Amino acid sequence: SNPSLLILPGDGIGPEVMAEVRKIITWFGDKRGITFDVSEDLVGGCAYDAHGVPLTDETMAKAQEVDAVLLGAVGGPKYDSLDFSVKPERGLLRLRKEMDLFSNLRPAQCFDALADFSSLKKNVVAGLDIMIIRELTSGVYFGEPRGIIREGNERVGINTQRYTESEIARVARSAFEMARKRSNKVCSMEKANVMESGILWREVVQEIHDAEYPDVELSHMYADAGAMQLTRWPKQFDVIVTDNLFGDLLSDLAAMLTGSLGMLPSASLGAPMANGRPKALYEPVHGSAPDIAGQEKANPCACILSFAMALRYSFDLGDEATRLEAAVEKVLADGVRTADLLNEEGVTPATTSQMGDAVVAALDAS
Ligand code: NAI
Ligand code: MG
Repeated sequence: SNPSLLILPGDGIGPEVMAEVRKIITWFGDKRGITFDVSEDLVGGCAYDAHGVPLTDETMAKAQEVDAVLLGAVGGPKYDSLDFSVKPERGLLRLRKEMDLFSNLRPAQCFDALADFSSLKKNVVAGLDIMIIRELTSGVYFGEPRGIIREGNERVGINTQRYTESEIARVARSAFEMARKRSNKVCSMEKANVMESGILWREVVQEIHDAEYPDVELSHMYADAGAMQLTRWPKQFDVIVTDNLFGDLLSDLAAMLTGSLGMLPSASLGAPMANGRPKALYEPVHGSAPDIAGQEKANPCACILSFAMALRYSFDLGDEATRLEAAVEKVLADGVRTADLLNEEGVTPATTSQMGDAVVAALDAS
């Protein structure tokens, strides 16, 4: 049977960028004979409008069954005043939680044509291709006890950094597996100098390495030094694995090494399914961009590159993923760019659909 894909376009520019991914999916069917069983459903504000909840049980069940989920973006000003329990973001959080997507992959890849857009010097970022793996379902964002309590005559805000051995082990394995598909190098980041959870993190990552992945080159770095090294010379890294909090910061930092929010894909992976591949949700890093929604201005590349990640990690189509990424690179080099990728006056930006069409044309020529 064909590989299955659930598409959840969501709100704002979500459906606009997803329409361009649809063109790519059609191209793969027509020109490469690679057909997906695609179903589409609602998530976020549009699901709330239709059903009163940001994700229905039926959609949740569908997400659990398919080989991969591709999500656009959720949210928007229309939903800002909704009760927390039905906010659009809750739909996304429910997907992540119930699919148990503990491993968040954020590639920081610098297309040569966009090296000028980096916050860093061109030679520091040109050709950069690193992968940050952030633990996504545990750590200080979830640990108990938490809350704001009263102590004497003042308030105290409390969060707890808590990691079990098995939580560290599974994300470590995910990083080592990733490294084997890349250049076989992992750097693990924590603060073992000041945190108990950091000491355990370092120990468990080392143990998993020694027992199961001795062929992978492993190093350890304190996360603050890691932030420094990421901006000094990011090309020293290949795969970085880190906890939820440090990963939040380091992946945002790494993202800006490479240019626009409109270019950044992500994947969130869980435990292996019956077919041996992980449960997976792919999505652009950006949100629903209400300021440009409905104006044909959105850059569809982040969503297209998220689909490329799905090809690679869920469908075992690494060569096709590379083909798609090369098509995006060619379009950028040819100067077809949405407004977010232009910094000159007097150049007319490409529309969302012109950008998608250009990627399809580049695929045709590949
Ligand atoms: P945002 O990522 O939607 O937009 C930030 C800025 O980047 C805006 O100026 C926007 O126009 C621009 N931008 C974003 N994606 C772009 C693209 N593909 N092409 C061109 N320009 C792009 O973040 P913001 O404004 O903080 O949030 C807007 C809404 O999105 C909120 O409701 C927020 O909760 C939601 N959101 C949803 C996320 C998700 O679905 N995973 C992630 C982040 C925010
Ligand atoms: Mg963040």
